[in-house]
Amino acid sequence: MADTLTITDNRTGKSYEIPIADGVIRAMDLRQIKVSQDDFGLMSYDPGFLNTAACKSRITFIDGDAGILEYRGYPIEELAEKSSYLETAYLLYRGELPSRAMLQKWTEGVRLHTIIHENIKKFMDGFHHDAHPMGIFVGTVAALSTFYPEGKNIFDPETRRITFYRVIAKVPTIAAFAYRYSIGMPYAYPDNELSYPGNFLRMMFANPGEHYKPNPVLERALDVLFILHADHEQNCSTSAMRVVGSAHTDPFTSIAAAASALYGPLHGGANEAVLKMLREIGSKDKIPEYIKRVKAGEVKLMGFGHRVYKNYDPRARIIKQTADAVFEVTGRNPLLDIALELERIALEDDYFVKRKLYPNVDFYSGIIYQAMGFPTEMFPVLFAIPRCAGWLSQWEEMLLDPEQKIARPRQVYLGERQRHYVPIEERDAAPVR
Ligand code: SDX
Repeated sequence: MADTLTITDNRTGKSYEIPIADGVIRAMDLRQIKVSQDDFGLMSYDPGFLNTAACKSRITFIDGDAGILEYRGYPIEELAEKSSYLETAYLLYRGELPSRAMLQKWTEGVRLHTIIHENIKKFMDGFHHDAHPMGIFVGTVAALSTFYPEGKNIFDPETRRITFYRVIAKVPTIAAFAYRYSIGMPYAYPDNELSYPGNFLRMMFANPGEHYKPNPVLERALDVLFILHADHEQNCSTSAMRVVGSAHTDPFTSIAAAASALYGPLHGGANEAVLKMLREIGSKDKIPEYIKRVKAGEVKLMGFGHRVYKNYDPRARIIKQTADAVFEVTGRNPLLDIALELERIALEDDYFVKRKLYPNVDFYSGIIYQAMGFPTEMFPVLFAIPRCAGWLSQWEEMLLDPEQKIARPRQVYLGERQRHYVPIEERDAAPVR
């Protein structure tokens, strides 16, 4: 049997042999299917890209039915248990686990770039006092392109390398400064003696004039959460990174576009929406009432469902295990009991079972973040920080892929055609549509 698709166009009776490779057909091979010489040819129509591969990639593998997630072939469970976020970021970007010397050099390199230009504080101070930290994050990351204009030399490997260091190193500082600004606290500068997660916790929570030592359990829990959020193949925000980057926009501005997509409550903003939902439910006895509203289509069960996972999101399982260690230190978050009961009920309810709706990465992450002292508004920012490693890795893969061009999808046009201008006098007589 040949690796081809035989398509018969019943409009013309003609047959076509379309090659199949890597489990796909090339959409451009459909264009030869025409009803006449001047016919544009067939396109595929796929709103939301449910069944469209926009690229070839070797970074992250997901099997949604089996609940499998691998970064460069390494199972997420092993990386969460044995790796660190910085090592995982290196793996995503370089494709291999680093040697001890390489990891040391990479870690040192990140440490050298944690400081942000003093002017950034000036425009950060210009935000409204209650500005959402994700809005500050998106705006500030885009502004980095003005401090590092050389980032536009996107085809220079050395420039891409330094940009990777700068972004990974500076986003925790930007995030922490955004938080400190929102609560009127002075900025806590990076302490490069600390680990990547420890330094971030200190910039977030250190009181002026007091020595701050990150709790090792919370430091490790945050590192695991960063590992889990580092990449996830062609999700909405990564697709935004690839689309904007395909125009050869600089990586800082492309990341701002990706972070903007992540901000949406259907995507990385879901962790914030989960906490609001759990607070709105308020107690376990109110769950049935909320489930009824979900089934009536009034609200969504935030933190549930996934375009790819039609089984349990493996990250949600690991986060749930991490929660136990965190609550040992912080005390149990009462919202966890509501979340656990909500999950129990949903997993038994045919509405969710039929639609294969399971908890995703956002369902439990917010409960941990809240227990660690992060305000709800910081949750999407906590997603964006580690996802920068994935965005930049996917961006570079796109840039170096000889098959990639500027992203410019087609459309199915159903609107009016060939209408002629109507003078305003005549328009007043006609009924407004
Ligand atoms: C992330 O893509 C990624 O990899 C993303 C991510 C990553 O790491 O980058 O994994 C991170 O974004 C996780 C998802 C976080 N979002 C949420 O938790 C928000 C709630 N979830 C939904 O909005 C939804 O499940 C999506 C957006 C996640 C997926 O949407 P799809 O694939 O477009 O599915 P759909 O909306 O077509 O839903 C299929 C059916 C529909 O019912 P019917 O119209 O068939 O009757 O399931 C229903 C939906 O109404 N449904 C839900 C639901 N999610 C889907 N019903 C209630 N609550 C939900 N959460």
